[in-house]
Amino acid sequence: MDIYQENILDHHRNPRNWKLLDPYDFHASDENPLCGDTLEITLRVDENDRVVAVGWDGHGCAISQAAASMLGEEIIGKTLDEIKQLDKDVVLDLIGIPLSVSRVKCALLSLKVLKSAVYNLESQQ
Ligand code: FES
Repeated sequence: MDIYQENILDHHRNPRNWKLLDPYDFHASDENPLCGDTLEITLRVDENDRVVAVGWDGHGCAISQAAASMLGEEIIGKTLDEIKQLDKDVVLDLIGIPLSVSRVKCALLSLKVLKSAVYNLESQQ
């Protein structure tokens, strides 16, 4: 098994930040329409809109769970503006192995939810 596969399995078995925050500043949930698996993300930010805590929960395959775990670690310390700039390549680089089209949807579910969390709250402010 290569290092990327080991990393995916590790994040799947020991997901980081796998607990929703309460209270939180940002929240969103969504599903992968192909399989119905769901993911929910909460964020807390400081006065400079920098992420200080991430919590997520969800049900899904190893790729979707590992991607959520990796992405959660990746965004701690980033500003909301920086999160808005993240694109799918960030997640695919974290996963690090070639994925089929349907598996790419699994990998990108957490990014989709993260983006809707960040944009939703701004529209309520
Ligand atoms: Fe549902 Fe991957 S099979 S998220």
